[in-house]
Amino acid sequence: MAQEKSIEKNIDSLLQQMTLEEKVGQMNQYNGFWDVTGPAPKGGNAEIKYEHLKKGLVGSMLNVVGTEEVRKLQKLVVEETRLGIPLIFGYDVIHGYKTLAPIPLAEAASWDMEAIENSAKIAAQEASAVGLNWTFAPMVDISRDPRWGRVMEGGGEDTFLGAKIAEARVKGFQGDDLSKPNTLAACAKHFAAYGFAEAGKEYNTADIGTSTLYNTVLPPFNAAVDADVKTIMNGFNILNGIPVTGNKMLQRDILKEKWGFDGFVISDWSSVGEMVPHGFAEDLKHAAELGVKAGSDMDMESSAYVLHLVENVKEGKVDESLIDDAVRRILRVKYELGLFDDPYRYCDEEREKEELYHKKHQAAVLDMALKSIVLLKNDNDLLPLKKGQQKIAVIGQLADDNNSSLGSWRLGSDDNTGVSVLEGLKNHSINFSYSQGPKVFEDANFLNEVKVNHTNTSGIEEAVALAKKSDVVLMVLGEHGFQSGEGRSRTKLDLPGLQLDLLKAVHEVNKNIVLILMNGRPLTINWEAENIPAILETWQLGSQAGNAIAKVLFGDHNPSGKLPMTFPRSVGQIPIYYNHFSTGRPDPESTVFWTHYGDEKNEPLFHFGHGLSYTEFKYSNLKIDATDEKAIKVSATIQNIGGVTGKEVVQLYIHDKVASVARPVKELKGFQKISLDQGASQEVTFVLTDKELGFYNHDYEFVVEPGTFEVMIGTSSQEGLTGTFVLK
Ligand code: IFM
Repeated sequence: MAQEKSIEKNIDSLLQQMTLEEKVGQMNQYNGFWDVTGPAPKGGNAEIKYEHLKKGLVGSMLNVVGTEEVRKLQKLVVEETRLGIPLIFGYDVIHGYKTLAPIPLAEAASWDMEAIENSAKIAAQEASAVGLNWTFAPMVDISRDPRWGRVMEGGGEDTFLGAKIAEARVKGFQGDDLSKPNTLAACAKHFAAYGFAEAGKEYNTADIGTSTLYNTVLPPFNAAVDADVKTIMNGFNILNGIPVTGNKMLQRDILKEKWGFDGFVISDWSSVGEMVPHGFAEDLKHAAELGVKAGSDMDMESSAYVLHLVENVKEGKVDESLIDDAVRRILRVKYELGLFDDPYRYCDEEREKEELYHKKHQAAVLDMALKSIVLLKNDNDLLPLKKGQQKIAVIGQLADDNNSSLGSWRLGSDDNTGVSVLEGLKNHSINFSYSQGPKVFEDANFLNEVKVNHTNTSGIEEAVALAKKSDVVLMVLGEHGFQSGEGRSRTKLDLPGLQLDLLKAVHEVNKNIVLILMNGRPLTINWEAENIPAILETWQLGSQAGNAIAKVLFGDHNPSGKLPMTFPRSVGQIPIYYNHFSTGRPDPESTVFWTHYGDEKNEPLFHFGHGLSYTEFKYSNLKIDATDEKAIKVSATIQNIGGVTGKEVVQLYIHDKVASVARPVKELKGFQKISLDQGASQEVTFVLTDKELGFYNHDYEFVVEPGTFEVMIGTSSQEGLTGTFVLK
């Protein structure tokens, strides 16, 4: 408290000394633009930015990394500008810096908040060692559309799970003391509804109703604010006709007023300027006016603020108090990071040498990878395989790839630093023979479209010959690591290129197949699910992918992941998600007039929350105790009736049967991950309070309404024990 007061006093006194130009400078963020350790740039954009830095017209840089580079820029600003206000250095540390954890969607499949928090902590540990003090993560956008490439970066389709993950990741990045040199300020993004881009097309418009906005989209952001997230990023999208960067209702009324957020809002890359092509602002000057009025405090790389805000204030279009408010917020975070005490706090060359790719970090991301794997199918207990007893064939280009499974959004890491499946098998002393099959993907990087082979079948024959003489075939198929992520929307979600042809050809000669999927989003894999006995969803597991996969294949680790997103049967079903509303005609009729497709089932291929284990869990004895209306207890007994120790994510869903705003058919409201030895059982109890039973009405008021609730405790959103209770 005393510290907070002194920060505010310092800010007051700094604000008094600052010119309007200097204030606006704090609201300007530039992308890194020249080799900082080389000579100062001459001419062009780089020289302008350099001059702005020296004049105190820049508050933050992004994409400048390395203690030497950061130190040099910080020195320029601290020593050469009039007030010496330090820069804050931001970067996309999404699932690690050098050592990579699984992509965030994979981590979400662990349903393990402690592990997710730890993973963010390790990312902060490494990134803060190279001079960074701010990450543009976590992305907390809920999305129900796997066509959208950025689902890989989020926590999946569910708000309750997404909110828990938001909290865990913010805590992991920021730690308990932001001024410690091994923590980063976090940034919950993209505020808001970017994940509802129409048709899953990148940067597209979102048009959603108030109920979805309040009950589905906003809660993970609110959870991040409650966890004291220091920054929020808005987005590229229009929401209900207004670009979110120019949206006052979102940024001022809800975020800053209603939720009391006291950090700052950063625009997305050039999203202030993009309000012009959106048809919302006349020109860059108008965009600057609209952005700041709406509560966008810092302008990432569109130069709208630095070029036009002073003019806007002088012409009376923008009140200077709005500038003061934005600058106060930015300075506050800089103070909290300890940058005023020591601007070079994050520039420790020794740490930089020690921390990157550290053995301890590799062990932690391996643990996270193991927890992220989901066993989708395992007929006749084909898995786990027994070491040394079978002739194993490994087929598929991705098996020999130490780059793709690193996934997208890994700007700081080095290419080809992952453990491939082949390496993982070797590390675990597994004998196998390998055939690539057809080459499906050409090399690609963060900036390029992945090129996919749909025609050249050479390689299939050799793979089939190998499969023929093997006892079991491990087929490693899926997406290239850069087929998901920003700018990677897809209209088809089947295995790209010739992979299904390859799988079918192998299946003709050997049915004993384990399909190891690597992908950044749910795929449509109907034929595979029908015909292949065992399917392991491994997503993109990061640096230790191959080791994690080998351990799971051979039973050194029993998988326990559960899907954080529904797998559709076909793209035509999208958006498909478990917590939909009921139509007026949900049940099959003798005629055609009910909610269904004429050519496809309503059911997805794999439900939200689905995931198997090498053991089996029996659910029994559902009990509901509603005597205390403020704390309704729902419990069930879970028993491990299979052959090995295992972990189970026990899930609790509710359905508010009648409400003033109709409620979804099911809503996740609790989960617990438990470990049970063979034969052991445990009673798992959930407590439902107003927080779980209420919802936001159309006036954005949180209401709890009496009536009947259905409740389910189960192993997925589809399967469980059900009961009811009445809330009076
Ligand atoms: O953080 C990202 C954002 O998610 C997408 N646009 C660019 C930003 C900075 O790299």
